[in-house]
Amino acid sequence: MRAVRLSENRFKTMDEGSKKIRLGVLGSGKGSNFAAIADACAAGSVPAEVALVLSDVEGAGILEKAKARGIEARCLPPGRYRTRLEEAAERAYVEALQAAGVEWVALAGFMRILHRTFLEAFPGRVVNIHPSLLPAFPGLEAWRQALEYGVKVTGVTVHLVDQGVDTGPIVAQEAVRVEDEDTPETLHARIQEVEHRLYPAALADLISGRLEIRGRRVVRRG
Ligand code: GAR
Repeated sequence: MRAVRLSENRFKTMDEGSKKIRLGVLGSGKGSNFAAIADACAAGSVPAEVALVLSDVEGAGILEKAKARGIEARCLPPGRYRTRLEEAAERAYVEALQAAGVEWVALAGFMRILHRTFLEAFPGRVVNIHPSLLPAFPGLEAWRQALEYGVKVTGVTVHLVDQGVDTGPIVAQEAVRVEDEDTPETLHARIQEVEHRLYPAALADLISGRLEIRGRRVVRRG
């Protein structure tokens, strides 16, 4: 099977010395994953800098957290649909990210499905975090779905984004036990602790070119 390099950035980094990859982050919520990513970038454990944060929600916590870190952040209206961006809005997101020189995009609690216009602008370079062990419990409030289903183990998945809902090739996963006393809130809180560690680590692997994709499998380069 043909091996496709996920990132040419490794070569760019070597050619251009200390130039960092510019990362865009999209989120709709409180932005704790964004904060973990931005802090890992600032600490040097992810070889990137967050160049721009975009949200579809006016006043979202992620925008405040970005501004507090001196990172450019703004709300771009999503248009008239509930679960995706309107075509013109999707173009506006792409234009804003490209104008900021963004090469990789991390979705951090962005609650809309992205379509071709967006994905073709950043081919193989849009990453998402999902609060379950995919393919179990795609979609909204996956921790609540896990609890209601009665599974004993759930977890966290970092995956590349394709046109499906939480269906792209899996980059990293980690399990979280469901305890008898768990409520949706306590389970989500433990899932988030894992997210804040797993997402920066997976982004570092992707951006550094340490991984390659073989069919649906994302594997470490030999
Ligand atoms: C995270 O738990 C993330 O996995 C989830 O939203 C939360 C955002 O939290 N994403 C999804 O459910 C995507 N389908 P945050 O705003 O604190 O990063």
